[in-house]
Amino acid sequence: MLSELEQSRLAVSRAADPKRKAQFGQFFTPAGIARFMAGLFVQRPEHRCRLLDAGAGIGFLSAAFLGRWASGGFGFQRVEIDAFEIDDSLHPYLIQTLEEYGRYLNIVSTIRGDDFIHTAVDSLCGNLFAETLPRYTHAILNPPYKKIRSNSAHRSALRRVGIETVNLYSAFVALSLALLEDYGQLVAIIPRSFCNGPYYRPFREYILKRAAIRHMHLFASRNKAFKEDDVLQENIIIRLERSGQQGPVTISTSTDDTFTDLASHEHLFARIVFPDDPERFIHVPTSPEKNVIELSSAIRYSLADLGLNVSTGPVVDFRLKKHLRDMPEPGTVPLLYPGHFSNSGIQWPKTGMKKPNAIQRNADTEKWLYPNGFYCVVRRFSSKEEKRRIIARVVDPAAFADAPVLGFENHLNVFHQNRCGLPQALAHGLSVFLNTTAIDEQFRRFNGHTQVNATDLRLMKYPSRDTLTVLGAWALGCGKLTQTMIDDKLGTLTE
Ligand SMILES: C[S@@+](CC[C@H](N)C(=O)[O-])C[C@H]1O[C@@H](n2cnc3c(N)ncnc32)[C@H](O)[C@@H]1O
Repeated sequence: MLSELEQSRLAVSRAADPKRKAQFGQFFTPAGIARFMAGLFVQRPEHRCRLLDAGAGIGFLSAAFLGRWASGGFGFQRVEIDAFEIDDSLHPYLIQTLEEYGRYLNIVSTIRGDDFIHTAVDSLCGNLFAETLPRYTHAILNPPYKKIRSNSAHRSALRRVGIETVNLYSAFVALSLALLEDYGQLVAIIPRSFCNGPYYRPFREYILKRAAIRHMHLFASRNKAFKEDDVLQENIIIRLERSGQQGPVTISTSTDDTFTDLASHEHLFARIVFPDDPERFIHVPTSPEKNVIELSSAIRYSLADLGLNVSTGPVVDFRLKKHLRDMPEPGTVPLLYPGHFSNSGIQWPKTGMKKPNAIQRNADTEKWLYPNGFYCVVRRFSSKEEKRRIIARVVDPAAFADAPVLGFENHLNVFHQNRCGLPQALAHGLSVFLNTTAIDEQFRRFNGHTQVNATDLRLMKYPSRDTLTVLGAWALGCGKLTQTMIDDKLGTLTE
């Protein structure tokens, strides 16, 4: 049945108007993933089920849920389904899907063409003229993915029920959770972006306050989950239990939607959300072993403890365009981009680079420039093919001869000390530490993007200033460093 549906999913997905697809965030779930998601619900001795499918598309997720019930996976006597789908051009397919199952299963389905956000908010607020939605026992969703503008009707509706969030997907999850009865279960496939970053902090707080995270599944390879659609985000499948007592969390991984190499481990919740983390980052450890960073008692300092800060490069080139120069000339100072990264340091100036090498020093630019000195810089963006996310280099003042100040362009993160340079060995120590494999791994546990934000770097734990200085001195003494050398060295760090 699901495989027949798979054919229509592909057909509808291919035929769909790209504009409509973008407008409604329409990416349909492949059969394998839908089945896996339905399989995550824990079976309990319940006879009745009220299932919410918010943003139902052509009904793939409901179908997978019903398929599991049909094959004996649940003990329900009856299932009531509320399927919300705003795009009425999909309703005929949705009706057909649910009717197929209705022929031999005891189901009552309601297809709702209204906007899920407004309907759910009205119901939760107890609006006199609105329909009261039931409290659901199960919710299964692959919600639309789209930014919510700050002045939009969706944003103000969500605020009425205390939900502050920036994307439709997180809004759908928060509302579905609010509509669940206690111990109700929610399984959703969503982008990983909610796990970190300041914008999703209220959403993280919202779900962590109301539910227990029971399971998270990560696809090892970006892009594999939604092959035909150009989905670049890394996706995660999450199972939440409303009002559940938080315990260990199961983390599973697979390369793709065939799940042939499914691996699964349990982790203490303290490894998922660190107890002392005010940002409530959600980490997804992909191996049961603790990595060096977690094991080392030497790595426990905040950047503030080190007396350091990290900022996004202050020179926004398109705003200072008229002051930029391809090559250095009198009156200019060096301007550094990620393009200046070489294998081991910084190469400047660089001919043939599409970006300028210099910026004029004058009254308009002065406030964006830092005094020449040693800095540790990290690229903000990497391409998805690149092996590493965190790539650090040391800026050595000797490379810029007598330049009094330097420009750091916005695609870099800069570690500094009150907007001034760092001691040489400290800059090297930081760079070595950030270039270790363990740091990259640790970073990937909470950041599914290719983007490295200054906030992410600010929230990580570091060795002490003294330890970093010793590490830097070691690196300076070694000359050429290899990945193995720095990874081995990290394991030996003590205070
Ligand atoms: C990512 S698709 C997933 C569809 C289906 N659940 C699946 O897994 O194949 C999200 C669906 O939500 C629908 N949608 C978008 N905004 C909506 C809204 N405000 N209310 C109800 N449905 C909405 C879209 O039309 C789209 O079909």
